[in-house]
Amino acid sequence: MKLALIGYGNVGRALAVLLRRKKSAFPFEITGVHTARHGTAVSRHCLPLEPKFGPPAPSVEAFLDSAHADVAVELTTLNPVTGQPAIDHIRAAFSRRLHVVTANKGPIAHAYSELRDEARRHKLMFRFEATVMDGAPVFNQVRNNLPGVTVLGFTGVLNSTSKIVIETMEQCGTFDDGLDAARRMGIAEADASYDVEGWDSAAKTAALANVLMDARTNPQAIPTRGITRLTPQRVHELNRSGKTVRLVSRAKRTAKGVSLRVRAEVLDQAGLLASVHGTSNLLLLHTDLMGTIGTVSISPAVEQTAYGVFIDLVDIFRAIKRLQIALPPMKRHVE
Ligand SMILES: NC(=O)c1ccc[n+]([C@@H]2O[C@H](COP(=O)([O-])OP(=O)(O)OC[C@H]3O[C@@H](n4cnc5c(N)ncnc54)[C@H](OP(=O)(O)O)[C@@H]3O)[C@@H](O)[C@H]2O)c1
Repeated sequence: MKLALIGYGNVGRALAVLLRRKKSAFPFEITGVHTARHGTAVSRHCLPLEPKFGPPAPSVEAFLDSAHADVAVELTTLNPVTGQPAIDHIRAAFSRRLHVVTANKGPIAHAYSELRDEARRHKLMFRFEATVMDGAPVFNQVRNNLPGVTVLGFTGVLNSTSKIVIETMEQCGTFDDGLDAARRMGIAEADASYDVEGWDSAAKTAALANVLMDARTNPQAIPTRGITRLTPQRVHELNRSGKTVRLVSRAKRTAKGVSLRVRAEVLDQAGLLASVHGTSNLLLLHTDLMGTIGTVSISPAVEQTAYGVFIDLVDIFRAIKRLQIALPPMKRHVE
């Protein structure tokens, strides 16, 4: 199965390393890589880990036309305010009959239902497991393991940078020391204000609500209050009374629709939501048939994000094999 990568930063490179490790069992080949500043590389055969980039293709459309791929993998920088240009990249891939996998939550937070319908119209697969909790099962958990379940709501602690900032302040550092630490760990978004102002959490909340609760929302519509007003003094004061702070995403199905919010909440240090530290994340799904069921990811790194993308690729690969779809153009069409 041939892959065209749009974006080759931390996640793209980690994915290329993972694919190389698992090549004998999963014959996936990266035949195209397109970036913003580094240029474009395409080959009929698998590109090396450090491809020789030529000048950038004039457009994503031109890149996809030249990459001879079955699947487009969208791994460009998050824009939590608009989801663009990733939404257009995905549309360009669908219109060329390519399946799509993305780790970019922007399109899922802003345009999930439209993109899902577009994929269905073209009989293509559209997967995004890595967007919220890296490789930990969230969307696949519901799709594959919870048939018949209605998700009534969720509670999540989903942003790592804010936890690093809070924990740095608890250890007597400043807010900016915490941001620097998150940047050094490579976990802060390109613009770290997206993390601490709550945009990243709002985007994840919108993505979860759109996919699991058909909320048809976007991050701007979610009341969001980040941790920017938190000071070391306040954090120490809370610690003395056994409390701490986490940026918490909450969703609830109500008679009027889906109610969503993201807020820095004061929590008991001994409570479940406060028990995730550093880059660890936690999501609780509140359901009609399974009560509350949780997923915890302990200290995921970029390799686990790459694994989330890999899971989706394997899903598509198996679906293509299962349906024994003939060579182009039919092989790309999967219900
Ligand atoms: N890093 C993580 O742990 C993690 C976890 C979960 C989800 N994600 C999501 O995964 C995505 C990729 O993350 P990352 O850490 O790999 O980002 P990154 O290191 O900043 O890399 C982004 C890549 O996208 C390229 N790019 C940006 N705009 C582009 C455009 N308009 N057209 C073509 N290429 C473009 C960049 O090109 P240049 O190389 O030329 O600059 C770069 O190669 C993001 O959406 C992020 O939110 C990341």
